Amino acid sequence: ALPARVRIHEVGARDGLQNESALVPVEVKAEFIARLAAAGLRTIEATSFVHPKWVPQLADAEELLPRLTELRGQYPGLRLPVLVPNERGLERALAHGADEVAVFASATETFAQRNLNRSMAEALEMFRPVVGRATEHGLTVRGYLSMCFGDPWEGPVAPEQVVEAGLRLIELGCAELSLGDTIGVATPGQVAALLEAFTRSGVPVARLAVHFHDTYGQALSNTLTALRHGVTVVDSSAGGLGGCPYAKSATGNLATEDLVWMLHGLGIETGVDLAALVGTSAWLARQLGRPSPSRAVQALAGP
Ligand code: HMG
Ligand code: MG
Repeated sequence: ALPARVRIHEVGARDGLQNESALVPVEVKAEFIARLAAAGLRTIEATSFVHPKWVPQLADAEELLPRLTELRGQYPGLRLPVLVPNERGLERALAHGADEVAVFASATETFAQRNLNRSMAEALEMFRPVVGRATEHGLTVRGYLSMCFGDPWEGPVAPEQVVEAGLRLIELGCAELSLGDTIGVATPGQVAALLEAFTRSGVPVARLAVHFHDTYGQALSNTLTALRHGVTVVDSSAGGLGGCPYAKSATGNLATEDLVWMLHGLGIETGVDLAALVGTSAWLARQLGRPSPSRAVQALAGP
């Protein structure tokens, strides 16, 4: 059976823009997020409080977050999570009004080292006080897990290894776990196997979200497989923006428009106004000077 409703966790402003080499002005980012909210998205990842030298595109997080304050009043229930890797990041996020955060771990050693300059074990120790303090402040913490199916340096990743890493994040206090196919290599059989492995380990599917990239055109098939396994939270990126600056061969995230087209076709509610969303992605594509890779945007945006 399929769910009646799916919550879309929109990552375009963070996962999407972090991969753009040309700096996008903070006004454009704020307008992008406002348009996403107007199109009906209610979980919009806004930015990251990471080291500005590691992700220069998001170095304006301090300026961006306060600009989003009035959106919270305008759209009750709007969630604007931000990524924080460490205590320094959490301090910055709290000082600028964040009320929801995410830490981001890796299911593989190589990517942990490349993305966080830490081993997997060291990264967990870095997150421990972040999750603890965030929880004390009443913030919800999401845990990302990257490279859940394959890693560009290590090849295929065993489900047991992913479950092991996921359990550590849940033990730390992460309320939700987002399973990332960072390089977009997964196929539906692997998605089923991983979700079944989590279930066997006692993790309720209600705590799992999926985060697919569309490198090999598998993101929607993988999403449908996850829905059939009871997942109801899906990450996607408006217009299919994205990649990952520290993972070679990571191309775009699943496009939110492609996802919404499929979900609405299946009679699954999202709360999203597809025409407004397509208009937003077409507008952003003009700002970036590049067409959106989303098939639904191409089909619906017109010339
Ligand atoms: P490091 O170089 O090991 O940092 O980087 P450090 O802890 O040794 O500190 C060095 C200096 O950086 C210190 O300053 C710190 O204060 C400063 P100094 O004392 O030398 O003047 N510093 C900071 N400044 C501002 N904000 C901070 C911060 N932290 C330290 N938060 C670090 C370690 C984790 C900081 C670095 O590796 C980093 O920022 N990594 C982020 C990489 C990233 O954002 N990657 C993309 C997101 S993950 C992703 O996209 C995957 C995902 O989408 C899921 C999927 O697709 O699968 C989530
Ligand atoms: Mg991603």
